[in-house]
Amino acid sequence: MGKLSMPIKCLMAVCLWAAFAEAEEYMKYKDPKQPLNMRIKDLMRRMTLEEKIGQMTQIERVLASPTIIQKYFIESALSTRLGIPIIYGIDAIHGHSNVHKATVFPHNIGLGVTRDPSLVKRIGATTALEVRATGIPFNFAPSISVCRDPRWGRCYESFSEDRKVVRAMTEMIPGLQGDIPFHARKGVPFVANVNTKVVAYAKHFVGNCGTVKGIDANDTIIDFHGLLSTHMPPFLDSIIKGVATVMVAYSSLTRKKMHANRDMVTGFLKNKLKFKGFVESDWKGINSITNPPLSNYSYSVEAGVLAGIDMVGWFLMTDS
Ligand SMILES: *[C@@H]1O[C@H](CO)[C@@H](O)[C@H](O)[C@H]1NC(C)=O
Ligand SMILES: *[C@@H]1O[C@H](CO)[C@@H](O)[C@H](O)[C@H]1NC(C)=O
Repeated sequence: MGKLSMPIKCLMAVCLWAAFAEAEEYMKYKDPKQPLNMRIKDLMRRMTLEEKIGQMTQIERVLASPTIIQKYFIESALSTRLGIPIIYGIDAIHGHSNVHKATVFPHNIGLGVTRDPSLVKRIGATTALEVRATGIPFNFAPSISVCRDPRWGRCYESFSEDRKVVRAMTEMIPGLQGDIPFHARKGVPFVANVNTKVVAYAKHFVGNCGTVKGIDANDTIIDFHGLLSTHMPPFLDSIIKGVATVMVAYSSLTRKKMHANRDMVTGFLKNKLKFKGFVESDWKGINSITNPPLSNYSYSVEAGVLAGIDMVGWFLMTDS
């Protein structure tokens, strides 16, 4: 290198210094070239306990002021009041039926009778577009329950009493999220496009419509084989199709509340089926781990989190 003028030397020094500073600030978790597990580990290592708790918490929208969200590192907000749009995720279960002039489609039970998965996929795609257009990235849908008991009041949320039909209709998931690439790793969530697609929820895990006498949120008494052959297959399909989120059922499985069921949520869904997305509680589902609800809230939170729930709706609010 020959002689350089002073300004150029200064410029070089600044560049070197900037490059050095950048190297110092290198964050492994932000580097897409790093393997996913390394990035997750790096991020977890950097987060404080308060940040982790906040990131597992979904609160009522009326509480979600910028100050609260910042102070408690809140991950998510939902609205439980009619007429107020949900700002994070939304129950767009038969079209974006929460806003004026959006397309409303038949409920799942009506879609099931079409026996046309490609139509259902297109309905998913339309819903995703309309939900995205209102700035919301999550859709709490579809319900992939296999409902064999019309006494259950929410039976219309089910595509069918026939497991095969429900399995086929999980096509709504690639409609909402986009088609998972052929070589993608099984169990890893997939959303194709942040402008046109949304995160889908497979719900409710598991057996929520097999309850005694069809009583809502009651007990589904079934042996493991029965569970695997009746209620589980659509979850398997959803995971293969890259569903990002699974929502837990209010109901119990042979006397064990699903929200506290570590064997099923962690043991089966996460470990056995290798679901790598996140598991969310149903709205206030944690509260009724105890009977009566809310009789030991710290216990309920602990039981839910230990069961494997990654995000808890309504951690903090206890009013109706
Ligand atoms: C199911 O319903 C019965 C009758 O209402 C009730 O006594 C029981 O506690 C419920 N079981 C669960 C698990 O919710
Ligand atoms: C609540 O549950 C915890 C266990 O998580 C227990 O230590 C505590 O005694 C319980 N409190 C009441 C009032 O039952």
